[in-house]
Amino acid sequence: MDLGLAGRRYLITGGSRGLGFATAAALAAEGAHTCLVARDPVRLAEATASLGEGHDAISADLADPGAAASIAATVGSLDGLLVNVGGPSPGTVLELDDDTWRQAIDGVLLSSLRLLRALTPQIVDGGAILLVLSSTAKEPIRDLAASNVLRPGLAMVVKDLANTLAPRVRVNGILPGRIATDRLRSLGGTDLGDGVPMGRPGDPEEFGRVAAFLLSPAASYVTGALVPVDGGLLHSPW
Ligand SMILES: NC(=O)c1ccc[n+]([C@@H]2O[C@H](COP(=O)([O-])OP(=O)(O)OC[C@H]3O[C@@H](n4cnc5c(N)ncnc54)[C@H](OP(=O)(O)O)[C@@H]3O)[C@@H](O)[C@H]2O)c1
Repeated sequence: MDLGLAGRRYLITGGSRGLGFATAAALAAEGAHTCLVARDPVRLAEATASLGEGHDAISADLADPGAAASIAATVGSLDGLLVNVGGPSPGTVLELDDDTWRQAIDGVLLSSLRLLRALTPQIVDGGAILLVLSSTAKEPIRDLAASNVLRPGLAMVVKDLANTLAPRVRVNGILPGRIATDRLRSLGGTDLGDGVPMGRPGDPEEFGRVAAFLLSPAASYVTGALVPVDGGLLHSPW
């Protein structure tokens, strides 16, 4: 199947490592041009160079309230956008203090909303937006209260914006379960495949292929959807 990605332009935030980079690599392999956003300029330059010719980078901290607008001023029109922001601190509802909640709201919710406000006008007709959420959009994970509270809200952002932008631009959410990235390893645990029906964590490439499909014209009738990439981890079909 031809995904129709050749020559199309995509902005990928959180693009230097993990799920964002895996999505950029899958898009690049199909002939798309990407622009990666992350904070560490050295890792960002290495990641961009590893994709080959025709890819750009913008070093920015998405927690900075002005970052989204300056990214929008730098990039031109886009065929698609991956909204992928850094994950929140772990902790339970009873442990997290006000400052940690404010950081989580700013880093996960507001940074995503700022990207959507700033960049949606630059997405061409027939383009696509994909938000990286989490299985916590549907089921809580122990000790990840900030994610459990904020991701369901972003799932509603997906539905709301999909209705607003249809039929011009498609908007979907993708729900990683446990994909073997630096973030997952930093959250600890000895057996990352424990409780996953597939018996193992996912490879970032397995996530990137699904994300690239959802961003591509091949997914032209998929909008307002939440798509798990979790090896069967979610218990409910809804
Ligand atoms: N991996 C999983 O299994 C999993 C499961 C559920 C949800 N998620 C969510 O998916 C998202 C990506 O996770 P990941 O596993 O790919 O994480 P990762 O391996 O830690 O990669 C995070 C990427 O985002 C960039 N980044 C982080 N904070 C940023 C900021 N403030 N401004 C700009 N760039 C920033 C990082 O580069 P710099 O550090 O250089 O900025 C890096 O490129 C997170 O929100 C995470 O919570 C992941």
